[in-house]
Amino acid sequence: MKFLITAGPTREPIDPVRYLTNRSSGRMGYALAGAARHDGHEVLLISGPTTLDVPPGVDFIPVETAQQMYDAVRDMLRGVDVAILCAAVADYRPVACAEQKIKKHTDKLVLELERTPDILGSMRSVFGFSGKLIGFAAETQNVVEYGRDKLVRKQCDMVVANDVSQPGIGFDSRENAVVLIYPDREEYLEKDSKERIAMQIIEHATILPS
Ligand code: PMT
Repeated sequence: MKFLITAGPTREPIDPVRYLTNRSSGRMGYALAGAARHDGHEVLLISGPTTLDVPPGVDFIPVETAQQMYDAVRDMLRGVDVAILCAAVADYRPVACAEQKIKKHTDKLVLELERTPDILGSMRSVFGFSGKLIGFAAETQNVVEYGRDKLVRKQCDMVVANDVSQPGIGFDSRENAVVLIYPDREEYLEKDSKERIAMQIIEHATILPS
C-alpha cells in the first residue's frame, strides 16, 4: 500500500527572524512512517521542521508553513491508499510577514492572525481523496467526544486522539497513549513508546474496512 504521512510542527513567519510554532517534535509522525515502511509499504513523509532523521527507505518532502504542507499534500495524493495526518499544523498565521525585523518601538505589539488552510478538512471536500483517511486529534478535555466530532466533520475513517494535557505523552515526549476512534467504536492503546504505538496504528490502518 502507499502511505502519505504528515508530521511535525509548522512555522508561520512573523518577520525574517521570528515565527509562530508549537511543541511538536515530529516523533509520532516519524514513528508512523518508520513502522509503515518496516511493514513493506511505500511511504511519503511530509514534515515541518524537526531534528529527526528520516526513516530509511521513506520518501520525504520538508515543508515549513501550513500553506506549504497543504500544497505538498494536495500535489502528492495520486495513488495514495492511506493518508495519516499527524502534523501539528498551526491553526493561525500572521496576516502579513514583516519584510524587515520588527523593532521594539512600543510596549505592546498586536499581531493580527488569520486561519491557515485546513488540510484534513480539505482531503475529501476539496482534494477529492477517496483512500483511507486517518486524522489525529490533540485534545485537553472531552477527548473521545471532540475526536469523534472531527471524525464526522472531516469524513475520516479513523481518528487517533491523544490527551495532550497529560504529562509524559503527546507533544515532545517519547511515549504516547491514544484512543482509536472508529465510526462505531473506540479502542484504547495503553501508554507505550511512540514506535510501538505507531506499529499498532499502522496495523489498524491496513485493515480499515472499505
Ligand atoms: O510530534 P510529537 O512531539 O511526537 O507529538 C505528537 C502529536 C501530539 C503532535 C500528535 O500525536 C498529534 O496529536 N497530532 C495532531 C496535532 C494537532 O494539531 O491536532 P488538532 O486536533 O489541532 O488537529 C486535528 C487534525 O487536523 C490533525 O490531523 C491535524 O494534522 C489536522 N490539521 C490541523 C490544522 C490544519 N490547519 N490542518 C490540518 O490538517
